[in-house]
Amino acid sequence: MLRDTAVALATAGIDNVRFEARLLLAKASGLSVEELVSRGSDPAPESIVPALRSLTARRLKREPMAYILGEREFWGLPFKVTPAVLVPRPDSETVIEAALSLLADRTRAWRLLDLGLGSGCLLLTLLKELPQAQGIGLDISGAALEIARTNAVSLGVAGRATLIEGDWRRPGWEGQLGGPFDLVVSNPPYIATDEISRLMPEVARHEPRQALDGGPDGLGAYRIIAAVGRRLIVPGGHLLVEAGEGQAIEIASIFLSSGLIPLPPWKDLGGIERVVAARH
Ligand SMILES: C[S@@+](CC[C@H](N)C(=O)[O-])C[C@H]1O[C@@H](n2cnc3c(N)ncnc32)[C@H](O)[C@@H]1O
Repeated sequence: MLRDTAVALATAGIDNVRFEARLLLAKASGLSVEELVSRGSDPAPESIVPALRSLTARRLKREPMAYILGEREFWGLPFKVTPAVLVPRPDSETVIEAALSLLADRTRAWRLLDLGLGSGCLLLTLLKELPQAQGIGLDISGAALEIARTNAVSLGVAGRATLIEGDWRRPGWEGQLGGPFDLVVSNPPYIATDEISRLMPEVARHEPRQALDGGPDGLGAYRIIAAVGRRLIVPGGHLLVEAGEGQAIEIASIFLSSGLIPLPPWKDLGGIERVVAARH
């Protein structure tokens, strides 16, 4: 079964086919990958064949593995994911590193805001790491907020998280959030509209368009967020945003024109300037 699944995945141009075949077989059989390895010489029950076929068919359509498995690990924590939310990326862990270095006193009751909550991976991870902090998360997608709520409960931080449906393109949108905040984080949509169709099929065909589309130059959301930065953030507080490759300088200059003081960017593990920060 493993071999047949791997061969099918390879014909669809997918990498790491042995690894992915193992994950699909584990999901179909209800076993963990470790159990699958340790029981590898047992006969496989025929009953798992239909489940494996249907999971493999989804992957052959280049649906992201995280949607098929229903979960993705971020900062070592399990997050439920569905096609309503962006799949949390390892690069976004740089936002957490930067935030924790700015909020070094973990015992303080920091006030946090996450703009574009998605699965909740940024805000909920920070609430886990900062046990006295309170956080607000905003997203335009009600379906994404549902997933984030489930994650807040399963991670044990629901009592300190307020999740709000709203659109930052509406005038006066920031008034509903009850700021100011010590730290505002955001991983907004930052792909230029014309580039979306050129992304990997997993992203272009399956991830939510409104989580990707940053307008004609990809920078639309940064301009909106920066424009209200001084109202949303306490003096001395920070704005931290994830940036696409090559966008850091332009974002820092947007922050500067909005009266915020840019800080040196944080790089991700690939050496790309991934997080742009500014101080009020
Ligand atoms: C790139 S995703 C980031 C999700 C999550 N924070 C993460 O890092 O994985 C951007 C999020 O912004 C939300 N969003 C897009 N446009 C919005 C708007 N105008 N107002 C509020 N949220 C918006 C999307 O629904 C999406 O969940």
